Amino acid sequence: MKDTGFSTRIIVTKYAKPDAHGAINFPIYKTAAFEYDTAEHIAAAFQNKLAGHTYSRITNPTIAEFEQKLKAASGAENAMVLASGMAAISNAFLTVAYAGANIVSSPRLFGNTFSILKFTLEAFGVETRFVDTDNLDEIAAAIDENTCAFFCELITNPHLEIADLPEISKILRAKNVPMIVDTTVVPPCGFDARAAGVDIEVLSTTKYISGGATSIGGAILDYGTFDWGKNKKLAALPVANPLKFMFKLRMEIARNIGACAAPDTAYMQSLGLETLELRYKAMSRSAYELAKHFSAHPKVVKANYPTLETSPYKAIADKLFRDNLAGAMFTLHLESKAACYQFLNNLQIIRRATNMFDNKTLAIHPESTIYGTFSAEMKQVIGVEDTLIRFSVGLENVADLKADIEKALV
Ligand SMILES: Cc1ncc(COP(=O)(O)O)c(C=O)c1O
Repeated sequence: MKDTGFSTRIIVTKYAKPDAHGAINFPIYKTAAFEYDTAEHIAAAFQNKLAGHTYSRITNPTIAEFEQKLKAASGAENAMVLASGMAAISNAFLTVAYAGANIVSSPRLFGNTFSILKFTLEAFGVETRFVDTDNLDEIAAAIDENTCAFFCELITNPHLEIADLPEISKILRAKNVPMIVDTTVVPPCGFDARAAGVDIEVLSTTKYISGGATSIGGAILDYGTFDWGKNKKLAALPVANPLKFMFKLRMEIARNIGACAAPDTAYMQSLGLETLELRYKAMSRSAYELAKHFSAHPKVVKANYPTLETSPYKAIADKLFRDNLAGAMFTLHLESKAACYQFLNNLQIIRRATNMFDNKTLAIHPESTIYGTFSAEMKQVIGVEDTLIRFSVGLENVADLKADIEKALV
């Protein structure tokens, strides 16, 4: 199926076992447990000697079908779907980290991701070393023998900065450090994680994949590219190298943490995957067009979108992303916080809401909402400015969005 197009690949992916009734959409197996005919069979299933589901916190057929489609979409060797993007991020960190380890990361992060690194993991003896990902020397210098991962977001939110992943990957390979990237902002139809050197992809499927903000979900994709024999915690696991990460994740971390996906969420998001490419392209084209249009508006101090000529990240965006598109997020800097609030209150079509990559266009003032409870010092580290509005562009006709923004910029 590698030669087919992205959407075809997802739509033709069939589940390992045909449905008993031939249902064309894979059913929702809404059950906690699965029964077996004999004690020997259930024991064999628990010991992974017999393929089969035992308990839905561990595996479930509807979730497995969604994982299979995610593998087809991304080309990953293995996929695990979890309850949320944060569940994916925290489970991935917990799989590779240990007391005394450090994670080298960009500080330009989604609020909860910053918080788990800075507060949650630090309390368990895992240090995060924040680096400027534009500075390759700084990244190299931060790594030592206890660095268990490099982490960044594909396009930082809301700053729209892009790390040069292929260049960073050369440093990480030489130093035996895996690259974990949050790719929530550009899905697999717009970005080839494997080609960019990503070893583990984490993402919030709540966003594009859910197909219209229907549900919360997350996924971890493993490209099978890292030698886990080089990770102090995973090296001794009794499975061959490429499977060590997923083995630890599935057999211990994810089932102990218990942030499992719900089967009805997997059903909705699996359908969402089938229309992902169409929606992603339409939304991203509109985001580019709006950013370009409003960059020339007298009330706009600056419009940002990674493939605008004015973006310092255009060359990297052109290298990493397809079709001159870099996701459906763009930002506008206005002259003051008050101007931002007035603008938001004037909007008629665009919704004042958090979240991203819904079918509806959303606008928010990140400094006073997503980062509203962070100290001034933390806001400075993360790089949040109070003159910035973030947009996530949906599927409305772009002319109507243009008119709505125009009218709100009085
Ligand atoms: C870049 C990024 N990563 C992760 C998350 C967390 O995802 P979830 O809300 O599904 O836990 C978000 C949520 O907005 C996000 O924007």
